[in-house]
Amino acid sequence: MKALILSGGKGTRLRPLTYSGAKQLVPVANRPILFYCIDNIAQVGIKEIGIIISPETGQEIKETVGDGSLWNVKIHYILQDTAGGLAHAVKIARDFLKDSPFVMYLGDNLIGGGIDRFLQEFEKNSPDALILLKEVEEPKNFGVAEVSQTGEIIRLIEKPDEPPSNLALIGIYIFSHNIHKAIDLIQPSKRGELEITDAIQKLIDMGLSVESFILDGWWLDTGKKDDLLTANVIVLDEWLKSDIQGTVDNESRILGRVAIGKGSVIKGSNIRGPAIIGENTVIENSFVGPYSSIGNNVKIRHSAVEHSVIMDGSELNDVERMEGSLIGRRVKLFRNKRHKALRLMVGDDSIVEV
Ligand code: G1P
Repeated sequence: MKALILSGGKGTRLRPLTYSGAKQLVPVANRPILFYCIDNIAQVGIKEIGIIISPETGQEIKETVGDGSLWNVKIHYILQDTAGGLAHAVKIARDFLKDSPFVMYLGDNLIGGGIDRFLQEFEKNSPDALILLKEVEEPKNFGVAEVSQTGEIIRLIEKPDEPPSNLALIGIYIFSHNIHKAIDLIQPSKRGELEITDAIQKLIDMGLSVESFILDGWWLDTGKKDDLLTANVIVLDEWLKSDIQGTVDNESRILGRVAIGKGSVIKGSNIRGPAIIGENTVIENSFVGPYSSIGNNVKIRHSAVEHSVIMDGSELNDVERMEGSLIGRRVKLFRNKRHKALRLMVGDDSIVEV
């Protein structure tokens, strides 16, 4: 069994953060989303992982992930130089995959509970595809499955105008080598891409076996700000352990599960978990509330923050109260005491609510 992680794409839904970086590297609880995918794959004992990268963000992904030694796996990078779709990505990975069965994992999908049970399910009957489904509120935005009363898949459609059900395809699939034959037979979709959903439909048309598994745990497609904040909440809830490596002065109070990285300094502040604070960050006379992930080299002074993600190198000064926010890298946010007016320098596609 091999694994193929798709880590290309433009990340339009997470702009402006994704103008300067890959969406798969946006942090959830201070670790890139992509790291959780690799964790899940490494955990089931898969040793060979191919990562599909794009020309725009490939270098950053390579530098962050490295050769796989962090997980004791071997990582091969495969460049997809056109946005040809998910099935196109499988096509160009053919030399790496050979005839091995493989787990395909979209690098911006997060699920709870690991992938062990799906692998066991696949190994039971060795189908040509095992897909994971989950009920969603807006099936239009996903690949959708029509399933019979006995649980058989009748039809799969990518982003249908009139969804036949609310069962969305989750971005984790397990395939046999027959998926390559199906991919060779499909045509580009309306959005001009070779869709993996169409390739799986082709397997059904060819009379090959496609099984499904309904996911009961949580799943997040971290394409948008609110999804990302939800992912942050869930990951902090489930995985965060108290671990204080930085220094906390006598005037400060730490309550609940809180992690503070090396070199960070907390002065005269209240930190209420679950919250994670990276390395070399300074928090002074401030309140950091539950579900906050504060990156490295951040400075927060005279401010109150909760339920927010603040990435590396940003600074907050005299910000009375901030919540439900996603702040990129090296952002400066401060109260202007002389002028009442807002004075902003905000990048393209930013959203500011005051
Ligand atoms: C892709 C797939 C879609 C699937 C979704 C899951 O959509 O095409 O079938 O439901 O991932 O995240 P995309 O993210 O390319 O819009």
